[in-house]
Amino acid sequence: MKIAVLASGRGSNLRAIVEAIDRGACAAEVVAVVSDKADAAALDFANERGIATAVVLPKAYADRPAWDAALAETVASYSPGLVVLAGFMRIVGASMIARFAHRIVNVHPALLPSFPGAHGARDAIAKGVRISGCTVHLVDAGVDTGPILAQAAVPVLPGDDEGSLQSRIQRCEHALLPRVIDLIARGEITLGDRPTFASEAAAAATVMLAG
Ligand code: GRF
Repeated sequence: MKIAVLASGRGSNLRAIVEAIDRGACAAEVVAVVSDKADAAALDFANERGIATAVVLPKAYADRPAWDAALAETVASYSPGLVVLAGFMRIVGASMIARFAHRIVNVHPALLPSFPGAHGARDAIAKGVRISGCTVHLVDAGVDTGPILAQAAVPVLPGDDEGSLQSRIQRCEHALLPRVIDLIARGEITLGDRPTFASEAAAAATVMLAG
């Protein structure tokens, strides 16, 4: 399955996906890395690996819908079967959602529906929850509201700050996201308004309890 990875930052999830592919654990091919930021480290990693890259800068467009339409065009030019938001820090809009209906997954650093938005780890600490984690979900028109595909739970430990919790959560993301992509690629998860699993084993593989 061809995937396009959209990333704004460090790209540790992109790296985890590529490494899982390299060791035969993820039946996908990264055909492009697309960013909204020209200096995203994810782009450097893609270049090192010989993966095609593209940058679609919001400031080059009149408004958000125009940027979103350009993003959809760019991503579509690589003909991906799945679009993976891996640290893409902008909300994708109507053009993207229409073009890739039920074909966009996002990884979020909290157990949705708790703590949507840009600061999942910080918000979990502020609220004093004892368990947090990450969620892989389909992207719909809302913010972190689409159908949930997989979740991993980690403890929130005394003394944790945003950084330490975020690191613990990211270790789970790096295991869970490539696994979900693999399950989709192998037809073990069927995407839609209500995603379905081909077997109990597939469903079980989408739940992780760490730590
Ligand atoms: C991840 O923690 C993800 O949950 C959030 O953005 C972060 C991206 O990290 N959406 P990286 O760029 O993959 O290292």
